[in-house]
Amino acid sequence: MIERIDELLVEVEQFSSSAKEEIEQFRIKFNGKKGVLNDFFEKFKEVPNDQKKDFGQKINSLKQAVAAKLEDLKNASEGQSNIIKDDLTKPAFPLELGTRHPINLVKNRIIEIFRSIGFAIADGPEIEDDWHNFTALNLPEYHPARDMQDTFFIDTNPDTLLRTHTSSVQVRYMEENQPPIRILSPGRVFRNEAISSRSHCIFHQIEGLYIDENVSFADLKQTIQYFTTELFGKSKIRMRPSYFPFTEPSAEVDVYWGLNSETDYRITKGTGWLEIMGCGMVDPAVLKNVNIDADKYSGFAFGMGIERIVMLLYQMSDIRMFFENDVRMLNQFKSL
Ligand code: PHE
Repeated sequence: MIERIDELLVEVEQFSSSAKEEIEQFRIKFNGKKGVLNDFFEKFKEVPNDQKKDFGQKINSLKQAVAAKLEDLKNASEGQSNIIKDDLTKPAFPLELGTRHPINLVKNRIIEIFRSIGFAIADGPEIEDDWHNFTALNLPEYHPARDMQDTFFIDTNPDTLLRTHTSSVQVRYMEENQPPIRILSPGRVFRNEAISSRSHCIFHQIEGLYIDENVSFADLKQTIQYFTTELFGKSKIRMRPSYFPFTEPSAEVDVYWGLNSETDYRITKGTGWLEIMGCGMVDPAVLKNVNIDADKYSGFAFGMGIERIVMLLYQMSDIRMFFENDVRMLNQFKSL
C-alpha cells in the first residue's frame, strides 16, 4: 500500500492543467468524499499497529501534496484571469486631458467676437522703445500722463522698456499700413505696480483700433455695445468722459451688470454698473505721428484688461491665481 501512495505522490507532483474542469476532477479524485485520501484513511483502521506510524505519515504527506498542488493551480488560474481582464493594448497609465488657461479661453472668445466684424490680429514686441509706447501716442517726454502707467525701464541708450499697453502694437501697425485699418492687439503688458488681489505687475490686454474715412463716435459706441452683448449677454452700456493722451474725446465704458444677487451688489459696489474698458476717438496728433492723413481719416480705439473680464465671467476674486497655475484652479476649466 505504501508503494501505491508513492505512485500517487508522483502523479500529484506531475499534475498540471489550466482547465478548470480538469482541476476540479483532480480535486474530486483526491479530496472528494469517495476520493483517494478518504479511502486511505478508511484503510488506515485495518493497518496493523506497528505499521500505523509509517502509513500515517505517508497519507499525510499525500494529503499535503494535494493541498499544495491545488493551491498552486488556484494561484496560477487567478493570475491568468487577471491578465485576460486587463486590456494589454491600453496605455500604461491614464492620460489626463489638459486644459486651456482661462486667460486664453476668454482672449480667444473676444478675438472671435471682433473677428466676425472684420478685425484682424496684430502682434508686436513686449520689449518696446519710448517712441512706440509713449511718444507716438501723444505722450512726449515730461508729459505728466506718463505717470499714469508705472513703467519698467530696461535701458536708456537705446531706450528700452517693457510695454505698458498694447497700444504700442497699434502704432507699429499704423506705421506700416494705410487705412482702412481694423486690428485687435492682444498681449502681455507690464506695470510696476504692487501685487495684490486686484492688481499685478504682469497682465493681459486686448486693444482695438479702427481707422477709415468718416469713422464716428457712434460707430465706437455701436461696436462696444455689440461686443458686450456677445460676451456678457448684456447690451446696456454707458460711456463716462475720461482722459487718455492718445484719444480725444475719451471715455470709460461701464456695462450694466444688474443687481440680482449678493455678488452683483458686491462687485458693482451696489451701483449695478461695472467698468470694463477705456476708449475714444484717435487723437489726430497720433495719426500725424504715423503719417496718416488726419484730415481724411478718423478712427476709434479701445483697450481692456483680460484678467478683469475673466474675473467677472467666472467670479474669481484674486488676480494672482492666473499666474500661480494651481492645477486645482485650471482643472475647473476642463470642459471649456
Ligand atoms: N491704452 C489704454 C490703457 O492701457 C487703454 C486704451 C486704449 C484707452 C485705447 C483708450 C483707447 O490703459
